[in-house]
Parts: sequence; structure tokens; C-alpha cells
Amino acid sequence: MPSFIAAFPESELENNASRAIELGGKKVLVCRAGGELYAVENRCSHQEAELTGGRIRGCFISCPLHGVRFNLKDGEPAGQLTRVAITTYPLQITNGVIEISIDA
Ligand code: FES
Repeated sequence: MPSFIAAFPESELENNASRAIELGGKKVLVCRAGGELYAVENRCSHQEAELTGGRIRGCFISCPLHGVRFNLKDGEPAGQLTRVAITTYPLQITNGVIEISIDA
């Protein structure tokens, strides 16, 4: 069973927005895209830029540095610059609070 760590109230995150947090020493980006919540590694697999502030459309976030798009559902990149997926983290809501598991 993965263990989950409380992050922040889900009501604080608007659609097509993200918030960078640190959990257990890992940099995590929590995103709301298409009404769904996702938690991903906050580091691009191309040249390690933070994804903070990246444009969110559909279920994709674009890296602010060179624009690689990552699927927030599975971390897979689209385009030519990298073929390495970013890590995605399990997320759940308990009493309105986003909880994330960084176990894996
Ligand atoms: S560092 Fe993200 S696309 Fe280059």
C-alpha cells in the first residue's frame, strides 16, 4: 500500500493551473488539467528545467524552456527533444485535501 502525504486543499488550484511543492525532498508539480488533478515530477526530462508555470492544455503541460509537452496522465513526452517520461505520482483527495504518494 502506498502511503500518502497531505499537500494542500484542492480548492486552491484552478483549472489549467499548477503549483510547485516539495514532498519528502522531492520536487512535485500538482496540476489541474481538464478538471482532473495530477501530480508529476517537477523536472523536465530534456534539460532538467522546472515545469512550474508551463502552459497546460488538455492533459498536457509544456516545458517553459523548450516547449516539450508531457502527458500528465503517464508522463510521456511528445515531440523530438526527449523520449524519457517524467515520473507521475498517485494522488487522492481526502476531506478536500490533495494527498500524494511519492513512495515509488
Ligand atoms: S528543458 Fe524542457 S524542453 Fe528543454
